[in-house]
Amino acid sequence: MIEVQDLKKEYKIAKKSAGIAGSLKHLIMPKYETLEAVKGISFHINEGESVAFLGANGAGKSTTIKMLTGIMKPSAGNIRVMGRDPFANRIENARKTGVVFGQKTQLWWDIPVVESFNLLKNIYALSEEQYVRNMERFSAILGLNDFLSQPARKLSLGQRVRADLAASLLHEPPVLFLDEPTIGVDVTAKQKIYAFLKEVNQEKKTTILLTSHDMKDLESLCHRLIILERGKILFDDSIEKLFDRYDGGMTLEQIIIELFEHGTDAVSYVEEQEI
Ligand SMILES: Nc1ncnc2c1ncn2[C@@H]1O[C@H](COP(=O)(O)OP(=O)(O)OP(=O)(O)O)[C@@H](O)[C@H]1O
Ligand SMILES: [Mg+2]
Repeated sequence: MIEVQDLKKEYKIAKKSAGIAGSLKHLIMPKYETLEAVKGISFHINEGESVAFLGANGAGKSTTIKMLTGIMKPSAGNIRVMGRDPFANRIENARKTGVVFGQKTQLWWDIPVVESFNLLKNIYALSEEQYVRNMERFSAILGLNDFLSQPARKLSLGQRVRADLAASLLHEPPVLFLDEPTIGVDVTAKQKIYAFLKEVNQEKKTTILLTSHDMKDLESLCHRLIILERGKILFDDSIEKLFDRYDGGMTLEQIIIELFEHGTDAVSYVEEQEI
């Protein structure tokens, strides 16, 4: 379903000294340095899997998701999503995938949310029946009715994220990429969202890859974790395996904090214990 091989992304970043003098110097003699945000990662995700993509700030999660969704071109490596290169087949890829970037809305900023949904209905050529059925379901679970008539720019963060989530699912895509889909969402709504995503995952075998810093709720939805550390994969296996390795009543959050703190040492320590 999703195949990633030796994926790399380098960003060219401006190197300038502080202050106006630094900026002027940069104008005359620009200097750049390369930042390797993703350093050659490989993984496979099968149909129907729900995978959490974790890592500290700046680990490369959003960069990877941007490449998987075809928004950004990799510096090197190969990606196949349902057999297609997402960057070369951006339009077809968009039809088959749903995407949420919690940090940035995909909805039209100035028009009522319901009009955005109508536009999406036309873009994806959904039947009236499919549209109504999905809107009813999403409204009930995500509480959309309270703010459907408001433009996206007037919504609170949590409301906007809920609207974005509904928009990403309207065309019932087989693959969902969710980058911090519950950012700013209150506790009750968060639980509903995870339960709803689980339903979507189980009913339709929708493949889900999501990033979140919210470890408490992940366990209910995801069976597998891919943990990134500074652009490299630190761990890729089932949550169950992770628990097996760290027996001693630690919570998932505690285990992951341990992994972040001790990096790859923690993993090899864990593996040694297994022998
Ligand atoms: N457009 C860009 N230009 C230059 N550098 C970038 C750009 N986008 C991201 N980076 C850098 O690449 C690295 C990885 O960023 P990325 O956004 O992928 O991290 P992340 O794992 O999603 O972090 P977070 O948990 O904070 O969302 C960071 O060091 C970031 O500063
Ligand atoms: Mg990010």
